[in-house]
Amino acid sequence: MTAEIIDGKYISSQIRNELSAEVASLHSKTGNRPGLAVVLVGNDPASATYVRNKGIACDEVGITSETILLPSNSNEEDVLNTIKDLNKDDRFNGILLQLPLPSGINEDSMLLTIDPNKDVDGLHPYNVGRLMQGSPIFIPCTPAGVQELLLRSGYDPSGQHVVICGRSNIVGKPLSALLSQKLKGANATVTVCHTGTKNMQDITKLADILIVAAGRPNMIDKEMLKPNTIIIDVGINRIEDNTRKSGFRLIGDVDFNSVKDIARAITPVPGGVGPMTIAMLLKNTVQSFRNMHNLPDEKLI
Ligand code: GUN
Repeated sequence: MTAEIIDGKYISSQIRNELSAEVASLHSKTGNRPGLAVVLVGNDPASATYVRNKGIACDEVGITSETILLPSNSNEEDVLNTIKDLNKDDRFNGILLQLPLPSGINEDSMLLTIDPNKDVDGLHPYNVGRLMQGSPIFIPCTPAGVQELLLRSGYDPSGQHVVICGRSNIVGKPLSALLSQKLKGANATVTVCHTGTKNMQDITKLADILIVAAGRPNMIDKEMLKPNTIIIDVGINRIEDNTRKSGFRLIGDVDFNSVKDIARAITPVPGGVGPMTIAMLLKNTVQSFRNMHNLPDEKLI
């Protein structure tokens, strides 16, 4: 049997449609629109593409956005001053500092400067702590997108053994906290594998749901799975491809062709988790606007 494709492009378009309606309603109630500021330091081409796509997505749903470009020779003080200005700027209720930063700029201290109430990326230590304790304000966008993909495809992680490959601060660690909470849409048994894990295939073979966020192209093949596993591939790796105009193509951390006949369902790369990350950024930005205007989400009451 060939695996079902979990279509992140389609699911994210549904979410964007829902958000467009919500933003229109908030605009008619308040006369204002949610606003997102994105800070990009340097000229990494992949980051520039992500940031451009975030701006386009904001426009589509009616969120005001502005990208602040800082040159690659910026120092920590330049970045800190930009963030401090945005913290005070009422036009923006969301701030995103695109990672990675050029070497010499400390990520942790930059993230610590973002007002936690505007931290729509959910990466400030306050928001990380809230997530760990099961009362999140902003859930980091990729973990939130993975959870939403599972739920909207009918694969509730509750009671399932979820194995996560990767322990990054952006994906692996917050995702393990998110899916192990005693909350609706979570409540999974979570195991995290990483570069220190011995005999990783002995663990990945136990997964009902396997989430791979290791940044290593094609690291998972069919020998590492039990039949009928649900696979979420978070990897976005650029590999050289001279048949493309761009000179590269994107592949995931999972060897799609190897696993497609044994997995129950899988996300493609591109078109799986990537578009969901952006949709969740928009959702957090709308949530932040609601928080600031004291307008609780009707769906949550
Ligand atoms: N770089 C890659 N993914 C992300 C993300 O989710 N947030 C930020 N700030 N930078 C990223």
